[in-house]
Amino acid sequence: MRIDGKWMSSVWVEADGWSVGIIDQTRLPHAIETVRLTTLGEAANAISAMQTRGAPLIGAVAAYGLCLALRADASDAAMEQAYATLLATRPTAINLKWALNEVVAAVRNQPRGERVAAAYARAAAICQEDIANNEAIGGHGLAIIERAAAAKPPGAPVNVLTHCNAGWLATVDWGTALAPIYKAHLKGLAVHVWVDETRPRNQGAALTAWELGRQGVPHAVIADNTGGHLMQHRLVDLVITGADRITAQGDVCNKIGTYLKALAARDNGVPFYAAAPSSTIDFALGDGVAEIPIEQRGAEEVATMTGRTADGRIETVTVVPDGSMVANYAFDVTPARLVTGLITERGLIAPTREALAASFPERVGR
Ligand code: MRU
Repeated sequence: MRIDGKWMSSVWVEADGWSVGIIDQTRLPHAIETVRLTTLGEAANAISAMQTRGAPLIGAVAAYGLCLALRADASDAAMEQAYATLLATRPTAINLKWALNEVVAAVRNQPRGERVAAAYARAAAICQEDIANNEAIGGHGLAIIERAAAAKPPGAPVNVLTHCNAGWLATVDWGTALAPIYKAHLKGLAVHVWVDETRPRNQGAALTAWELGRQGVPHAVIADNTGGHLMQHRLVDLVITGADRITAQGDVCNKIGTYLKALAARDNGVPFYAAAPSSTIDFALGDGVAEIPIEQRGAEEVATMTGRTADGRIETVTVVPDGSMVANYAFDVTPARLVTGLITERGLIAPTREALAASFPERVGR
């Protein structure tokens, strides 16, 4: 994506040819700062502290984290240790495990002296595949937005509601849920986005709104509980979210609060789509509610809020009473029965075991 006229990716290999650059997403929207990762520990910390985040991007950065680990020690034992360290950083997004497995598969049978190069080559390919897949998702999702536009008065904007950040910041480029919106905007279609703020970390308010603003896409940030009201008043044409894990039967795990949007969408006859590359599909799991591990994060994310003061300082304030207990579940699962369709790189797929298996036969059983 272009930011202020300059093309930026969300992860890159630095000019030295080995260290890894990321955008520090904890500083957005108030500052664009980058971080240089040089060790396994730095990569793992960047993922768990959410300097870098979003299911596909977590996978890409973890792949490079394995590269950094192999530079230090290319033995099998060190690789297994690094794999375990990176896998433990975020439990819910399956792209992390997928990407680590891809790098290990590319490296395992290589002689020690060639392992680092093989790992970097696979990590770079994972990034390129992510860009291509997300652009394809954009094309398939564009067709959905075009159909919605055709059902409205000429020139009336298609109102899309999205949750969390599933834009280019959450991927290597394009984004998943936002890719169709960017494609529509680039094509000159009138599109307007309702951006759920997405407490507790405010990925919608801080990241999605920032992205959309930089690309000139009309949008409005709304408090998390607003979507149902908007749907009742016919102010939402469709919902598109990302996903952190999709099971073989089409259940969609995504940022906490997604399930409530899907319920409201169903009650109001609003189509609900999840957009994700196939690296987000976990064919090993069936019942997402029962089987997907849901990350629980620190109490401070709920108990505090961070923002910019009138004089430009970034400050964190406490918003709950001292002594109150806090629970911080980071994701929830939307059952397949509430999902209209899955927008993948291979097209719009019904959220059923049969349709997913038919679209990705090579992944079944893996
Ligand atoms: O906890 P995060 O910010 O990593 O969660 C991200 C989301 O839930 C996104 O909506 C999802 O990963 C899709 S990313 C394209």
